[in-house]
Amino acid sequence: MITEVKTLEDVRNIARDKLKGICGVYKDCDGDPRRLCQGQNYGRTLGIGGIGSGVSFNNNFLALRKYKLKMKLIEEDLTPDTSYDFFGRELSMPIMAASVAGVNSFGGEEIITEIDFCRSVVFGCRDAGTLGWRGDTYTYSLENSYGLNAIAEAGGWGVKIVKPRDQGTIMKFFNKAEEVRCVAVGIDIDGCGSYAMAKHNKPVFKKSIEEIKELVSSTNLPVVIKGIMCIEDAINAKEAGASAIVVSNHGGRVLDHTPGTADVLPDIVAELKGKIKIIVDGGVRSGYDVLKMLSLGAESVLIGRDIVRASVGAGIKGVQIHMEYLLKTMVKAMKMTSCKSLNDITPDILF
Ligand SMILES: Cc1cc2nc3c(=O)[nH]c(=O)nc-3n(C[C@H](O)[C@H](O)[C@H](O)COP(=O)(O)O)c2cc1C
Repeated sequence: MITEVKTLEDVRNIARDKLKGICGVYKDCDGDPRRLCQGQNYGRTLGIGGIGSGVSFNNNFLALRKYKLKMKLIEEDLTPDTSYDFFGRELSMPIMAASVAGVNSFGGEEIITEIDFCRSVVFGCRDAGTLGWRGDTYTYSLENSYGLNAIAEAGGWGVKIVKPRDQGTIMKFFNKAEEVRCVAVGIDIDGCGSYAMAKHNKPVFKKSIEEIKELVSSTNLPVVIKGIMCIEDAINAKEAGASAIVVSNHGGRVLDHTPGTADVLPDIVAELKGKIKIIVDGGVRSGYDVLKMLSLGAESVLIGRDIVRASVGAGIKGVQIHMEYLLKTMVKAMKMTSCKSLNDITPDILF
């Protein structure tokens, strides 16, 4: 019986116990078809797994595994600087918690309530010097948006991502995000296929360039388009006035048989680096993975499932411990590959 949670191992042990039957909290969260989460999706809710065969989830992991880090040591000792400017906010690391919502829908309130989940992500990230992004699902409404409530409580310290609902509703969410002084807002355009939203009478749609332009001009906050998996969408998001894109397949939860995000990232970077902020997520499990994504040209990364486990395991403290683990491993990776600052992280450090 653990009385005081001190280490990441403590956090994950508690999460394993609480998530029995939902997530095995494995050493490698890889979307392999034999994993517990992958057995859930025939007629049952998606849980924490990937859609269908799980190939898209698994491809995120495999795409990152293909790359190896180049150890380079003979030079003066250095202390890596991981500080990162995100829309004018100084963060301790280029690593943020992804917009995840609806953990109570597959776990049940006895595992974690949506209120506690959102608070633990926002405040746990803040305590680690970084930002928690908050998502959107059918249980969220303008009157009761758990994510925005937590961000408001933290004085605006967060990013709000809205599902691609009807234009009017998105604009109202953006407006509320402005009121609580969020750092940025956005939409997960890949949420347009969500059955859960449609089933609960909250329809979601694909969005045209014109519609994204309308959303961008409705707010003075920077707008993020999340769910980019091809150059065409990346260019169109930029054309529509977005300030950032997230290269993401939603953790492999929206379309079966997509490539991994690290597979599509380099081409998008080649086209748009320096013209728009490029963020990526999918399968990032350690600071070593972060370094791979940054050397492929992303500016920062988001962490999804590991943050669910951290918050279920030990709430605010669990998320803080997890983010600090990512930072620690990233610092080690930077030192061993001779990267003093984020600018030194280039494709040269990869095999
Ligand atoms: C349970 C769960 C719920 C999610 N809900 C949302 C959401 O509401 N909005 C969103 O933009 N992405 C959502 N995502 C996707 C994550 O933001 C992120 O893209 C993905 O989890 C990253 O992959 P990783 O889990 O391998 O780190 C969700 C992911 C999971 C696992």
